[in-house]
Parts: sequence; structure tokens; C-alpha cells
Amino acid sequence: MTRELGVGVLVSGGGSNLQALIDAEIAIAAVASNVDGVPALDRARAAGIPKAAFPLVEYRDRSERDAAMAEWLVANGVQLVVCAGYMHLLRPVFLGRFPGRVVNVHPALLPAFPGATAVEDALSAGAVETGATVHLVDAGVDTGTVLRQEAVTVLPGDTAATLHARIRTVEHRLLPEVVRELIDA
Ligand code: GRF
Repeated sequence: MTRELGVGVLVSGGGSNLQALIDAEIAIAAVASNVDGVPALDRARAAGIPKAAFPLVEYRDRSERDAAMAEWLVANGVQLVVCAGYMHLLRPVFLGRFPGRVVNVHPALLPAFPGATAVEDALSAGAVETGATVHLVDAGVDTGTVLRQEAVTVLPGDTAATLHARIRTVEHRLLPEVVRELIDA
């Protein structure tokens, strides 16, 4: 008999991708955030998933915070980490606890438009298409191996909000699919 990989999810905001994982019946062992009080943590509570916040101000630096967060995830049985709208770079001390087992969802077709303003950047560059990417996380900014991507057409009159809403719809399908594949692999 095989035991499923424990999945941990990192969030920073609204948590619609976390909700997509919950709705897809991915068994989530724990949810951690760098920001306390965000809606994503309410979604975890509503689903009965252990949750905790690790605000940077409570630690000496990012490495110490990331070490504490990794420790808590491991204590909750996490072996695979999913960054679902997690807006801080993860330090090597964290990545080393989950080698090759941290994935991220990004609202662009990487390597195009990495970073925190990917949707706005695609619009200001006049891109006719952008999309969603699920990739492995390394120490760089959205530089890890791409696992899956899907294009989204930029429509005339799109704002960052309308375009991001269509990208999110794609993310909500792709992310649970990839996580399921990683669990089953
Ligand atoms: C998503 O578009 C994700 O690609 C990006 O941040 C957004 C998070 O949205 N990294 P949500 O919190 O899952 O609604």
C-alpha cells in the first residue's frame, strides 16, 4: 500500500487557487501564509485544514522565518509544497527541506513576464497572448522547470483585472491537475 504525499499550500492573499485545490479534493495537510488575516486562511479554516501565519516581522530575517515555516509544514506531514499566490521568494533553507518538491502557479507564459506584476507587464508590453504556468520552484524569480502551461488570449479593452480573471480560470484547472499528477507519480 502506498501513502499519498502530504500536500502543503503557501498563500498570501485571496486563495482562489487554494480553493480550486480544495474543490478538486486534493488532500491538503496544512496551509501557511506570510500574511496573517488573509482570506486564503479563512478558506483553510472553513475546510478544516490546519493553518498558520509566519509574518516576517516576527523573525530575525527571511531565512529564520522560512526555516520555521518549513519545520511547521514537515511537522504537519507535508512533503510536497504548492505555492498558490504566495508572494515571497523562498530561501534555500526552505527549498532544501523539500528538494524538487515545491511548485508554483504563475499568471504568464514563463519565461515571459516573471515577477509580481506579470499580468500588468504583459498588458503594457502589448502582448497578444499570455497565460498560466505551473513550474518547479528554484532559488530564482519564477525560473524553475516548467511543468505545464496554457495560453490565454489578450482581448481588446482588457484591464489587468479582466485579463487576470481569465488567467485565474485556467490556473484553477491546471494547478489541481498537475498536483494530482505529482501525487500519483
Ligand atoms: C494567481 O494568479 C497566481 O498565479 C499568482 O497570484 C495569484 C493568486 O491568486 N502567483 P489567488 O490568491 O489564488 O486567488
